[in-house]
This record gives sequence, structure tokens and C-alpha cells, in this order.
Amino acid sequence: MKILVIGGGGREHALVWKLRQSPRVTQIFCAPGNAGIAELATCVPLKISDHNALLDFAQNEKIDLTVVGPDDALAAGIVDRFEAAGLRIFGPRQSAARLESSKVYAKEFMLRHGIPTAFSRSFDDSSKARQFCEDAKYPLVVKADGLALGKGVIIAEDKATALSAITEIMDERRFGDAGCRVLIEEFLQGEECSIHALVDGRDYVLFPGAQDHKRIFDNDQGPNTGGMGTFSPPSRLLSPALQARIRTEVLDRFLAGLQADGIDYRGMLFPGLMVTADGPRVLEFNCRFGDPETQVLLPLLDGDLLDLLEATVDQRLHQTAPAWKTQAAVCVVMASAGYPGTYENGKPIHGCEKLHAGITVFHAGTQRREGVLLTAGGRVLGVTAIGDTLKDAQSAAYKAVDLISFEGAQFRRDIAAKGLAS
Ligand code: AMP
Ligand code: GLY
Repeated sequence: MKILVIGGGGREHALVWKLRQSPRVTQIFCAPGNAGIAELATCVPLKISDHNALLDFAQNEKIDLTVVGPDDALAAGIVDRFEAAGLRIFGPRQSAARLESSKVYAKEFMLRHGIPTAFSRSFDDSSKARQFCEDAKYPLVVKADGLALGKGVIIAEDKATALSAITEIMDERRFGDAGCRVLIEEFLQGEECSIHALVDGRDYVLFPGAQDHKRIFDNDQGPNTGGMGTFSPPSRLLSPALQARIRTEVLDRFLAGLQADGIDYRGMLFPGLMVTADGPRVLEFNCRFGDPETQVLLPLLDGDLLDLLEATVDQRLHQTAPAWKTQAAVCVVMASAGYPGTYENGKPIHGCEKLHAGITVFHAGTQRREGVLLTAGGRVLGVTAIGDTLKDAQSAAYKAVDLISFEGAQFRRDIAAKGLAS
């Protein structure tokens, strides 16, 4: 089978890496890809937003299955376009992907179907939103309704911060039309957990959990990023009892909600959860694989990813029973100096060739020029190790990180520490 993967980050590198292991895959293309992906697939320099060009390419190359990585392509309706042209594609359609692309829509869905989430109010008028903030309890959370590159959520410790967030999002339109509406939400205390489940509209298949590290600095200090590292499984947090609650209170209700609302959802569902003293609460739905979570989940999958993706598209998930390694995986992200703010590209990367078995370096933002591997993004590499225990995986990942260098490289030293704390 010929596969096209859309995207060019660490998540897509992990998808390509895992698909490459399928005996049924004959050729993989990736648009646009990166230098790491280019070692496993043919990269094609097409923009993720150029759906006409992607569709032409898939038709000319007779691609059997297209796999969509990023949220914005789903929100812009790439799946609908490909399906209308008779092509097979993995991911939810535009209307279903609203569960990620509109936080107000997702919140209404959760309330309608009894999925536990934070209390909130939505506003399409900034003066009413400001009025609400006058006698609210703090901290609270202000969220732009639409996609905002992960920057549209502001935790407001006090009224002044909440008011300026509303002005920035709604009046100044810092995130464009994503700020037509806001959600003002109760601040939840707890530990975050990333859940992944393939959903075909009739059934779902739950993956192991993962925990992300969103802040740039150790001990969860500094600004939020796309994710500085992750590990799986989070056995300390995700007890069997909590997993059972997540199944019944989140995933079973999600599936029943799809059916009640007539939503045809086929793809990955990645709910971001806050595990509170009162149980799991959904912070958001993502309609795609997580990044960097995919970099630890796929190395633990014992079996063929293509079988699972096809079963999702064909609504045959009830026939699948994926097996998972009993090991643990840790991914440490190495990022450019300045990230998540401004940063420079083009720094030579050294040491990736020295690594041993059990280590996979997923490229997030790299390019190769005249044979030299260079940085080309905020997040540059996801250095991933598997081990028999979480501690083993963590030590192996950091040993590998210490062999890799580029000017100004920044990474956290405490990835997976919260999984080991007693
Ligand atoms: P979201 O994009 O909605 O997942 O929000 C991004 C991040 O903001 C989450 O990963 C949390 O760290 C934080 N966050 C979002 N909603 C809340 C909430 N209600 N209470 C506390 N933290 C939150
Ligand atoms: N790691 C969080 C995300 O992919 O949104």
C-alpha cells in the first residue's frame, strides 16, 4: 500500500517510523516532512494548507491511505475534500473536528452528554465577558473558542489578567476569528493526563495513557510550549480504577454522544484530562494524535499501526485488539534557544549518529543542507527511549540527550520525574 502522511513534526516522524514497519506498506510519502522523516519516506514540499495540491498529489500517485497529523488541516476540511474525491483518509471530517476547533462546541457536547468538565460560561460579547469577571472567583481560565496554536488559554490569577485576556482575544483579535467567542472556565486543581483512543463512530480502542510536560522549564515553571517531553505509561497517576472511570465517564459517553447527535467521527480522539480529587475532568478534546505523546505511544505498540488506522476508517475497530509492550517509554524534547518565543534556525546538530539500540530520535524541526543536519523549528528533536521500567527509559533517554548537541539547545532535566515520585 502507498501511504501519504500530512505534517512535518515529531508526531509525523513517529507515524512514518511505525508505518514503515508494516509489511503491507510499500511506499510512504510525507508532506512536507523533515530531515528525519526523509530517511524513511519520500518528502514532498507541499504546504499542509494547500489541499488542492495535496489532493492532486494523492490522486496522481494513487495513494491508498492518507494520514492527517495536524489539527488545522482537519479543521479546514481536508478529510471531506479527499472523501469527496473517493480517496481513503484517516481523520475526522470538518464537522466532527469542531470538537477540537471550537471549545464552545466541545463544551456544549460535554454538557449534553454528561462528560465531566469544568464549569464555564461562553460569551460572544466582550463587555458581557468583562462584566462576568467583575465578581467571579479567581483563579479562572479564559479560552479563545478557536484554534490558537496552543496559546489561546490564559490562566488568570486575578481580575486584571482576566480582563486583559478578554481584550486581547475578543477586541484586539490576537488569534483572529478564533477570538469571536470566549469560554470562561473554573480553574481545576490536579494533575494532567493525555488519553488517546481510536474511535470509529461505533467503538473505540484505548491506548495507554501519557503525561505531557507543557512548561518550558523544570518543575513546570515558565511559559507553556507545545510540549517539552512525555512518558508512558503514567502508572502512578492512572490507576486501574481511574482508567475504568475514564472509560465509563469520558469515552463511553463520548461514543453515545456521537450517536445521539448523529456525528460520524472516525479518527484519533485525544482528550486532555485534569485528574482532580473528584475524578477526571476533560479540559479539551483533540481530534488527532498528540505531539509529543505519539513519540512514546507508538514505540510501545506491538503490532501493525496500518491495521488500526484502516480499521478506524472502515469501522472495524471491534475486530481489533492491539497489544502493547509491557515496557515504558520516555521522550525528551530538545528545543531551540528562545523557544517558545522567537528563535533562530540553521544551527548544526551533532551526535545523532552515535546512539544505540532502544533509542529513536524523532525529528520535529530539522532540515538537511549539503549533507549537514540543521535546526529548523522551535522544537527540534524528540529523543525517545524505551526500557523495562520508567526509570530505565528515563536514564537511557537522558544518556542519549547528553550525546546530542546544537548551539543553544534547551531541554528539561525532569521529564518523567513526576511518574517516578512516590
Ligand atoms: P487546553 O488547550 O484547553 O487543554 O488548555 C491548555 C492548558 O491550560 C491545559 O493543558 C492546562 O494546563 C491548562 N488548563 C486549561 N483549562 C484549565 C482549567 N479549567 N483548569 C486548570 N488548568 C487548565
Ligand atoms: N501535547 C499536546 C498536544 O499535542 O496538543
